[in-house]
Amino acid sequence: MNILVTGAAGYIGSIVTEQLLREENRVVALDNLQQGHREAVAPEAIFIEADLADSEAPDQVFRQYPIDAVMHLAAETVVEYSMTDPGRFFRTNVAYGINLLDIMLKHNVKRLIFSSTAGVYGDPELIPVEETHPLRPVNAYGESKLMFEQILQWYGQAYGLKSISLRYFNAAGASGEYGYDHHPATLLIPVVLRVALGQSDYVPIYGNDYPTKDGTCLRDYIHVLDIASAHLLALKHLDSSGSKVYNLGNGEGYSVMDVIETARKVTGAKIPSRPYPRRAGDPVALVASSTLAKSELGWQPRYPDLESIIESAWQWQRKHPHGYGK
Ligand SMILES: NC(=O)c1ccc[n+]([C@@H]2O[C@H](COP(=O)([O-])OP(=O)(O)OC[C@H]3O[C@@H](n4cnc5c(N)ncnc54)[C@H](O)[C@@H]3O)[C@@H](O)[C@H]2O)c1
Repeated sequence: MNILVTGAAGYIGSIVTEQLLREENRVVALDNLQQGHREAVAPEAIFIEADLADSEAPDQVFRQYPIDAVMHLAAETVVEYSMTDPGRFFRTNVAYGINLLDIMLKHNVKRLIFSSTAGVYGDPELIPVEETHPLRPVNAYGESKLMFEQILQWYGQAYGLKSISLRYFNAAGASGEYGYDHHPATLLIPVVLRVALGQSDYVPIYGNDYPTKDGTCLRDYIHVLDIASAHLLALKHLDSSGSKVYNLGNGEGYSVMDVIETARKVTGAKIPSRPYPRRAGDPVALVASSTLAKSELGWQPRYPDLESIIESAWQWQRKHPHGYGK
């Protein structure tokens, strides 16, 4: 198939692109490189540097290539910034997404996989979170993703657009070639591994008095390769689905201390940490149930254990201590 991947130079998009190519698809990789890296796009993909805000360049992509389906990963993703500059999140994650959908429809492309977030649930009442859980995002990032999911449902009803939205929490790990290169790091595992590499002095732990076994928050970590495989499976199930949503998760929460302990074991480094007060809006536990994705998509995470996730991230970070091309 000919697949357009938006956000293809980003952390997850680069690995989705790599895996699509591995399954013999042709990939047109679009990114404006505001956060992504040109080196993160596999050389076999056709790379287009373009912004989804601009309707001309993406339209040109559809005129030039016979696109069969779109995997939409381009987004503003840092939750923290969404609280100080929500406009940026609604523009990119909603308005530019609508640009993309309208261009797709103009070219009669009606298949889309959307990388959503489990942040659409807000503070979960029940763990692990199922798809039927109430949708109450607590930040503008989660709200913007939920709005786009709802737009997809309406586009499905009105225009016959088929879509699957994948909701997940913390992407982690790396493939052999591609990994996480954001500066500053905003995800826990890269933060911990940068301490292991001596690039920072300690890991800040925000809150050690939560009602968990060691007082630190519990989070679900999914290997990026497992996220990529879910995107590929979702594409295969699109024809029979209409507009659907699936959670992806390991069903198991790991605490901040579990991550640090496992990283110590994997890296052999001391990895000092320092306690800080709780951060506002940090739920005690975020874990998604993936029962539906397993039964309907046939998704099975290949790297569910924390050690193999951290091991792969560590291999990548050691090979690229300062990121791509540095
Ligand atoms: N990282 C996670 O833990 C996580 C969890 C749940 C969902 N997601 C979702 O997965 C997707 C990918 O996340 P990521 O962690 O790889 O983030 P990322 O920032 O590494 O990738 C996003 C990419 O989109 C590009 N982009 C942003 N605005 C654009 C625009 N207007 N036009 C073209 N390109 C644009 C950026 O340059 C970047 O390369 C996002 O949609 C995110 O919401 C991520």
